[in-house]
Order: sequence, then structure tokens, then C-alpha cells
Amino acid sequence: MRLQPFAGKPAASPGLFRALIAAIAMFAFMAAPSFAQKRTESLQGPSVASRTPDYDAPASEFAGPEACKDCHKNEFIQYEKTGHAKLSFPGKDYIHGCETCHGPGKAHSDSVQAAHGDDADIAKAMAAHPIFAFKGKAEENASRCLSCHVSSKQQSLFDHSEHAGHGISCNQCHSAHLVDEVKDAAKGDMTHPQGYFFQLPQIADENRWRHNSMLKRAEPALCYDCHQTIQAQFAQPEHHRVPEGLMKCSDCHNPHGSENVAALNKSVSETCVNCHVEKRGPFVFEHPAVKVEGCVTCHNPHGSSNRMLLVRREGRQLCLQCHTGFHGQLGAPHGKLGFQTSGECIRCHVTVHGSSLDPNFLR
Ligand code: HEC
Ligand code: HEC
Ligand code: HEC
Ligand code: HEC
Ligand code: HEC
Ligand code: HEC
Ligand code: HEC
Ligand code: HEC
Ligand code: HEC
Ligand code: HEC
Repeated sequence: MRLQPFAGKPAASPGLFRALIAAIAMFAFMAAPSFAQKRTESLQGPSVASRTPDYDAPASEFAGPEACKDCHKNEFIQYEKTGHAKLSFPGKDYIHGCETCHGPGKAHSDSVQAAHGDDADIAKAMAAHPIFAFKGKAEENASRCLSCHVSSKQQSLFDHSEHAGHGISCNQCHSAHLVDEVKDAAKGDMTHPQGYFFQLPQIADENRWRHNSMLKRAEPALCYDCHQTIQAQFAQPEHHRVPEGLMKCSDCHNPHGSENVAALNKSVSETCVNCHVEKRGPFVFEHPAVKVEGCVTCHNPHGSSNRMLLVRREGRQLCLQCHTGFHGQLGAPHGKLGFQTSGECIRCHVTVHGSSLDPNFLR
């Protein structure tokens, strides 16, 4: 079951359209709260919580969300706006609200309450009655979320992802109650130079968060925090328009991991032809460089200082990597033709991605 209540992903629409569709869907969503409500109810079935966390404590150890409200007002306000606020564990009505993630909290509430604001006593109470706060190991944190989210295909591979392998858990990217992270709405997010020149209108972080999978920061800023080399690639003159907000890292990658190289949504070339459909073929005459080696043999997917995201400045050099033309190897350069074949090969071989008309990709 998919847990995403918004914008069903149009499988094959270029970034521009995607962004537009997402924006439209977002506003449609904002205008129709009953839609969210309905979805939430339908998701409360056992299929969502197919791996119930270890919450066997008796009902008397749970305090209920109202108990947390007075002391943790900010978290409460933010959390109430999310789909999570309407959840409880199937069959255990007494576990809902804050305690679905933080576990039984009555001892914490009562003991801190009894401290009457005395710092030393609070510290003692916290030590005597700790409450789960996602400060443990990454797997432990993630398992708290995965106890419900295991049924979503999107997250099911998380445990085997590079992210999990490097100790990164759900709460590094998502926030159940965005409090500290809320930024100055007027400023938007301008952490990358291209953003100054061209950018979609920014939504204030507090609202963005609620309609953006509860991400702590919007992509790509979220990813740039850790992936600075990738940020540098996107700062090159030629790039997919990720910094401008027209495309997202997650259009190509699944941050929760996947079975493909580099956690891509699909195999490398399939990821690309999802948008660049005209490159998919099939062609009568396929170019093995495209079909077998794949798009990234010639293109850098993130950014490049060369035109068309090419990995080489000289198109000619790009082709001569394979078409050396010596002794029976792939034939070129072809001086035997008796005409000038200097300059760019694509001057003549215009359909280098494959052709249904000409075996030599001349048209
Ligand atoms: C009487 C006030 C009070 C109530 C009621 C209360 N808390 Fe707390 N809570 C505190 C204080 C004080 C702290 C310590 C804050 C700090 O260290 O800055 C705290 C800390 C926490 C932490 C962080 C623990 C950590 O190790 O960092 C979590 C999580 C938490 N509370 C959740 C809850 C939940 C869930 C409830 C309701 C079941 C709840 N609290 C009820 C006062 C309260
Ligand atoms: C009690 C089960 C449960 C737990 C525990 C849980 N979730 Fe969820 N989560 C759900 C359900 C059900 C939905 C769908 C709610 C809705 O329709 O709005 C959801 C929705 C989401 C969404 C999507 C919201 C959106 O706007 O697209 C994200 C992101 C998410 N959860 C992350 C987390 C993270 C991170 C954790 C752990 C810190 C977590 N969840 C813990 C059940 C749970
Ligand atoms: C969907 C899971 C989830 C639910 C439900 C949830 N929280 Fe949290 N909470 C987290 C995570 C994850 C963290 C760790 C902080 C982070 O990484 O953002 C956290 C951290 C906290 C903290 C510690 C903040 C700090 O600065 O250390 C408090 C206090 C807290 N939550 C209170 C609450 C209260 C009160 C509720 C209910 C109104 C609640 N939480 C509901 C997931 C949840
Ligand atoms: C490295 C950052 C990162 C981590 C770690 C991460 N997520 Fe996500 N998650 C994202 C991004 C980015 C999206 C939005 C994807 C999109 O917009 O299509 C997302 C979307 C989601 C969604 C909504 C879409 C859906 O699949 O229904 C849920 C639910 C979710 N994540 C849950 C989790 C859970 C549970 C974990 C931990 C097991 C987790 N995430 C770990 C970045 C992360
Ligand atoms: C908290 C730090 C952190 C954040 C945030 C983060 N990453 Fe990562 N990511 C890592 C680390 C560490 C690795 C593993 C080492 C490496 O490849 O750099 C990694 C690896 C990856 C990989 C390679 C995966 C593989 O299987 O080879 C991809 C792709 C990736 N991240 C994408 C993203 C995207 C997209 C986002 C934003 C939605 C994101 N990351 C956010 C830290 C992070
Ligand atoms: C147009 C699709 C596309 C977009 C958008 C995209 N990537 Fe990638 N990314 C790829 C492909 C394809 C590869 C694999 C390259 C290879 O195998 O040589 C890759 C590789 C990676 C890797 C692992 C290899 C490396 O260079 O370290 C990381 C990490 C990564 N991407 C992060 C990101 C982040 C972060 C973003 C957003 C800021 C992003 N990607 C946006 C297609 C994309
Ligand atoms: C989400 C849709 C999407 C995906 C996936 C995607 N692209 Fe693109 N690509 C675009 C759009 C839109 C443009 C042109 C608009 C722009 O950004 O200037 C573009 C432009 C290009 C260009 C031309 C650059 C130029 O200077 O005109 C190349 C080459 C390219 N993409 C290759 C790839 C490769 C290789 C992959 C796979 C790793 C890929 N694309 C994946 C949407 C996508
Ligand atoms: C053999 C090297 C090579 C491979 C492999 C390759 N391309 Fe290209 N691609 C080029 C060259 C060279 C150009 C520049 C063509 C021009 O300037 O007319 C180009 C241009 C493009 C363009 C922009 C111009 C246009 O025709 O729309 C896109 C988009 C593109 N490639 C996508 C892809 C995708 C998607 C794949 C994988 C399915 C791929 N390429 C594989 C060499 C390659
Ligand atoms: C990764 C290696 C590689 C790259 C790079 C590459 N090719 Fe090829 N190309 C091949 C292979 C392999 C064949 C099939 C040769 C065969 O069947 O004998 C081929 C076939 C061709 C053919 C068809 C003629 C034939 O013998 O089937 C033409 C024309 C061609 N390539 C032009 C180009 C041009 C122009 C470029 C640069 C834009 C280029 N190639 C880049 C590997 C490559
Ligand atoms: C002026 C136009 C032109 C340029 C420039 C050109 N070619 Fe060709 N190429 C042709 C023509 C015409 C044919 C078909 C010859 C035939 O029918 O025998 C051909 C055939 C080929 C073939 C298949 C036949 C063979 O020789 O094995 C390959 C491979 C090839 N070219 C690669 C290249 C590469 C690589 C470059 C750049 C270094 C290049 N070509 C530049 C016109 C050109």
C-alpha cells in the first residue's frame, strides 16, 4: 500500500510538468481537507501496521496525547496538523498520538509534573523515567517508523540502503513535528546560487513541510547538507534544473534505497527515458553505446561544463573513445570515405541515439 496521500506520481512527465502538477495537486489538497481525512481512515487497517512495535506495556502506562500537550505545546500544534495525528494502533486504542512513536509516556509525564519546574528534580525524573526520543542507533530509530511503514514499497528496502548503512535514519530527513526547523518564511530557501536567478515561488517552510512528505527541508537543500560534491556538480553551467526547483533528486533516486545502482528509481537508462521518451526506442538500428553501455557513458546525469551534459568537451573525443578505427576495431575515423570527416562526428551522424532509417545514424 502506498502511504502518500498527495499527488500520485505521473510516471512519465518531465520535471517542468511534474512540478506544475504537484503544485496544482497541492492546492487542490489544501482546499479539500476531507480528502486527507478519508485517506487516513482507510489507512488505519492492519495492512499499514503489519509489523507492530513492541508495545506490550499495559494500558495504564500510556498517558494519551492530551497529557503531553501542556508541556510540549509546539510539538503538539505541529503534530496535530499531520496525518499521523489521527492514527492509533489497530486493536490498541489506548496507543495513539505522541505515544505511537515515543512509547509509553505516563511515567515521564507524571514524574516531570511532580518536579514542579525544579531543574534538578526534572533531571532526576528524566533519568529515572526516560522516554524514547530517537536518540539511539539509526536502526532503532528507523524501526520505530518502519513498524508501520513496512508495507510501503518506497521504504521497504531502507534497511539495505546506503543511507541506513551509514547510520542515517528516517528522522534525519523527516520530522514528525517540525518545530526548530521552521525558517523565516519570507526568505524562502536560497542556499544555492542558481536559486537567485531562477526559481519557482517558495512556499513558507511550515506549510511546505506538511505537504512535502514532512521533510525537514525541501529538496535539494536537504540532500545538499550531506552531498556537497553533488551540489558542486549541479552548479556547473549545464545541469538538470534541480537547483531551480524544477526537478528533484527523488525524480531519479529513491532516498530510501532501491535495487538499482546508486539507489536509482529504475536502472540507469530507464530512469532517463522515463522523461526522455524519444530516446527509448526501440530503433531498427540501435547504437550499442546507448543500448548496452547506457546514457551515463556519454552524459553526466547531474551537471557538466560541456554542452548537452556530455562527459567530454570534444564530441569527437567522446566517439573516438570507442571508435578507434585501428585494425578491425569499430571502424572510424574513416579517411577511406574520401571526404572531410574532421570536426564533430555528430555533424553527419545526427541520430546517435539510434535510428530507424539508417544503420550509420546519418538520419
Ligand atoms: C509536566 C510537563 C511534561 C509532560 C506532561 C510531558 N513532558 Fe516530555 N518533557 C518534559 C520536560 C521538562 C522534558 C525535558 C526537556 C529538556 O530536556 O529540554 C521533556 C522531554 C521529553 C522528550 C525528550 C526526551 C529526551 O531524552 O530528550 C520527549 C520525547 C518527550 N518529553 C515526550 C513527551 C510525551 C510523548 C509526553 C506525553 C506522553 C510528554 N513528554 C509529557 C516535560 C513534560
Ligand atoms: C502508527 C503507525 C505509524 C508510525 C509509528 C509512523 N507512521 Fe508515518 N504514516 C502512517 C500512516 C498511516 C500515514 C498516512 C497518513 C495520512 O494519510 O496522512 C503516514 C504518513 C507518513 C508520511 C507521509 C506524509 C505525507 O504527507 O506524505 C511520512 C513522511 C511518514 N509517515 C513518516 C514517518 C516517520 C519518519 C515515522 C517515524 C518517526 C513514522 N512515519 C511513524 C503510519 C505511521
Ligand atoms: C511519527 C512519530 C512521532 C510522533 C507521533 C511524535 N513524535 Fe516527537 N519525535 C519524533 C522524532 C523522530 C523525534 C526526534 C527529533 C527529530 O529528529 O526530529 C521526536 C522528538 C521529540 C521531542 C524531543 C525534541 C528535542 O528537541 O529533542 C519531543 C519533546 C517530542 N518529540 C514530543 C512529541 C509530542 C508531544 C508528540 C505528540 C504531540 C510527539 N512528539 C509525537 C517522532 C514523533
Ligand atoms: C535521505 C533522506 C530520507 C530518509 C533517510 C528517509 N526519507 Fe522518506 N522521503 C524522503 C524524500 C526526499 C521523500 C519525498 C519523495 C518525493 O517527493 O517523491 C520521502 C518520502 C517519504 C514518504 C512519503 C512517500 C511514500 O513513500 O509514501 C514516506 C511515508 C517516507 N518518506 C517515510 C520514510 C521512513 C519510514 C523512513 C525511514 C525508514 C524514511 N522515509 C527515510 C527522504 C528520506
Ligand atoms: C544526513 C546526511 C545525508 C542526507 C541528508 C542525505 N544523504 Fe544521501 N548519502 C549519505 C551518505 C553518508 C551516503 C553514503 C556515502 C556516499 O555515497 O556519499 C549517501 C549515499 C547516497 C546515494 C548513493 C546510494 C547508493 O546506493 O550508492 C544517493 C543516490 C543519495 N545518497 C541520495 C540522497 C538524496 C536524494 C538525498 C536527499 C533526499 C540524500 N541523499 C540525503 C548521507 C546523506
Ligand atoms: C536526472 C537524474 C538524476 C538526478 C535529478 C539526480 N541524480 Fe544522482 N545520479 C543519477 C545517476 C544516473 C547516477 C549514477 C551515475 C553513474 O552510475 O555513473 C547518480 C549518482 C548519484 C550518487 C552516487 C554517485 C556519486 O556521484 O557519488 C549520489 C550520491 C547522487 N547521485 C546524489 C544525488 C543528489 C543529492 C541529487 C539531487 C541534488 C541527485 N543525485 C539528482 C541521476 C540523477
Ligand atoms: C524527471 C524528468 C527527467 C529525467 C528523469 C531525466 N531528464 Fe534529462 N532533462 C529533463 C528536462 C526537463 C530537460 C530540459 C530542460 C532543462 O532543464 O533545460 C532535460 C535535459 C537533458 C539533456 C540536455 C541538456 C541540454 O543542455 O539541453 C540531456 C543530455 C539529458 N537531459 C540527459 C538525461 C539523462 C542522461 C538522464 C538520466 C540519467 C536524464 N536526462 C533524466 C528531464 C529529465
Ligand atoms: C554515444 C554517446 C551517447 C549516449 C550513450 C547517449 N547520448 Fe544523448 N547525446 C549524445 C550527444 C553527442 C548529444 C548531442 C547531440 C547534438 O548536439 O545534437 C546528445 C544529446 C542528448 C540530448 C539533448 C538533445 C536531444 O537530442 O534531445 C538528450 C535529451 C539526450 N542526449 C539523452 C540521452 C539519453 C536519455 C540517453 C540514454 C538512453 C543518451 N542520451 C545516451 C551522445 C550520447
Ligand atoms: C561506449 C562505446 C561507444 C561510444 C562512446 C560510441 N560508440 Fe558508436 N558504436 C559502438 C558500438 C559497440 C557499435 C556497434 C559496432 C558494430 O556493430 O560493429 C557502434 C556503432 C556505431 C555506428 C554504426 C555503424 C556500425 O558499425 O554499426 C555509428 C555510425 C556510430 N557508432 C557512431 C558513433 C558516434 C558518432 C559516436 C559519438 C557521438 C559514437 N558512436 C560513440 C560503441 C560506441
Ligand atoms: C562528413 C560526414 C561524416 C563525419 C564528420 C563523420 N562521419 Fe562517420 N560516416 C559518414 C558516412 C557517410 C558513413 C557511411 C559510409 C558508408 O556507407 O560506407 C559513415 C560511417 C561511419 C561508421 C560506420 C562505418 C565504418 O566506418 O565502420 C562509423 C562507426 C562512423 N562513421 C563513425 C564516425 C565517427 C566516430 C566520426 C567522428 C570521429 C565520424 N564518423 C564522422 C559520414 C561522416
